[in-house]
Amino acid sequence: MGDQPLVTLKGITKSFGPVKSLNGVDLTLAPGEVLGLVGDNGAGKSTLMKVLAGALQHDGGQIAIDGRDVRFASPADARRERIGIVYQDLALCDTLDVASNLFLGREPRKGPFIDRRTMHRKAAETLSELHVRVKSTHQEIGQLSGGQRQAVAIARAVSFQPRVLILDEPTAALAVAEVRQVLRMIRDVAAQGVGVILITHRLQDLFEVCDRITVMYEGRSVEDEPVSALDIERLVAMITRSGSETAEEVA
Ligand SMILES: Nc1ncnc2c1ncn2[C@@H]1O[C@H](COP(=O)(O)OP(=O)(O)O)[C@@H](O)[C@H]1O
Ligand SMILES: [Mg+2]
Repeated sequence: MGDQPLVTLKGITKSFGPVKSLNGVDLTLAPGEVLGLVGDNGAGKSTLMKVLAGALQHDGGQIAIDGRDVRFASPADARRERIGIVYQDLALCDTLDVASNLFLGREPRKGPFIDRRTMHRKAAETLSELHVRVKSTHQEIGQLSGGQRQAVAIARAVSFQPRVLILDEPTAALAVAEVRQVLRMIRDVAAQGVGVILITHRLQDLFEVCDRITVMYEGRSVEDEPVSALDIERLVAMITRSGSETAEEVA
């Protein structure tokens, strides 16, 4: 494998009827890397990540994992390649408890019954490995704070042992301490070799956790820079394409 990227997207296109949402996107991700994916509303970030997670099928272009061409017909296909995603609107079940949400659809069983004791023990282990604190794994999800819900959603994705973890706006609605918690989870997961793609409008977060940033604009990837080469002003200029060089390219 060597220098082979974990994920390579090349020339990805996707239309919804007359709307061309993705118009030739390139992106790479290395193991253990945290990649920030930014761009204005409607740039195509969520659509691109749904393609990578198998929730949408692209029209053209290639997806390669470890340099091997793949095509995902469903989220299950992407999960088999160990690609995990936490969507913007967390798909959690408010009326179930923390442990049930973590193991929804793959609860440990004893004969025909859900083995609740094992499920709660495993849930507590998973959460503690990720430094997520909840009062009890028996708490209903609907009673948790936004940050705790986000943490549980990430823990659920991590418990599938992904090699790629996609987080779409995980900190958008969170209080300051909760943001810290999510950023810490991202660093922990990446330190274990997982490639993380972080979509966020909170540009300051990118500078705390990302190694590299890819900028999308109107369905295309337009910039790709290591964070060390950027500051907030430059990044804002790249996102809005107001910088001098980028303005020339557009013309
Ligand atoms: N299911 C859909 N049907 C029609 N248009 C869509 C659909 N999903 C996304 N789009 C359009 O694709 C473009 C990119 O959207 P999106 O990927 O959500 O952007 P971002 O996440 O960067 O804000 C937008 O113009 C959006 O309206
Ligand atoms: Mg989006």
